[in-house]
Amino acid sequence: MKQEDFNGLVAATQAALARIARDFSPAVFASSLAAEDMVLTDLILRAKLPIGIFTLETGRLHQETLSMLDRIKETYGHDVAPYRPEPEAVEAYVRQNGLNAFYDSVDMRKECCRIRKVEPLNRALAGNKAWVTGQRRAQSTTRAALDVEEHDEAHGMTKFNPLADWSEEDVWHYIRSNNVPYNPLHDKGYPSIGCEPCTRAIQPGEDVRAGRWWWENPESRECGLHVVDGKLIRIKSALPTA
Ligand code: ADX
Ligand code: SF4
Repeated sequence: MKQEDFNGLVAATQAALARIARDFSPAVFASSLAAEDMVLTDLILRAKLPIGIFTLETGRLHQETLSMLDRIKETYGHDVAPYRPEPEAVEAYVRQNGLNAFYDSVDMRKECCRIRKVEPLNRALAGNKAWVTGQRRAQSTTRAALDVEEHDEAHGMTKFNPLADWSEEDVWHYIRSNNVPYNPLHDKGYPSIGCEPCTRAIQPGEDVRAGRWWWENPESRECGLHVVDGKLIRIKSALPTA
């Protein structure tokens, strides 16, 4: 992409975020602390937009990912709110099924994601008018039809994916030109980072999400944070303007 086109992409994304802050207050941003989400963190905090930032601290994240909470604090002077799973639910799951039962079946894996991610997400989203994610269309087959603005019926609010049109190259161009801190695992073969036991490094040429739940079929590799089975109503495919 030419630099002027890239500048236009960034300007449109800034305008989209400003519009969310203005027209969809209170709005929150769900950050996995990975590269895409660091771009959004930088855009939100530099513009001092009133969009809260939270992360789902599942209890199974890499130390490198957790260290990003301190990096964000050092760089921007801002705290990211951690949402953690209910201890009783985690204890019951581990007692009944073992610590790593997510490898046994898709159902077991989805139940772990439900306890560690989906339920805390519901708490983090409660009371808000909109939420923001760092999903991109090019990330996977499950995201090919992603739009910038959607109605999230499951959570009863608007959902924004301001980076839907961004390529992986755009993400890294932004990070490098703005000195945005990023998870060191990205330099070790991890383009997509989730929980430690469910993420591995990929080989050159593999799909960017090939290291996520690698033992499952690509169609099942979503954790329930992003409902795609008809409960999302797409609204727009173009970036909204301010
Ligand atoms: S995932 O849903 O399959 O884990 P991915 O890691 O690609 O997806 O992240 C897509 C978006 O989901 C992120 O940009 C972020 O908005 C949200 N997300 C994923 N994991 C978390 C997390 N642990 N905490 C907060 N948001 C998350
Ligand atoms: Fe559990 Fe793995 Fe889902 Fe994390 S990604 S919540 S460890 S199944």
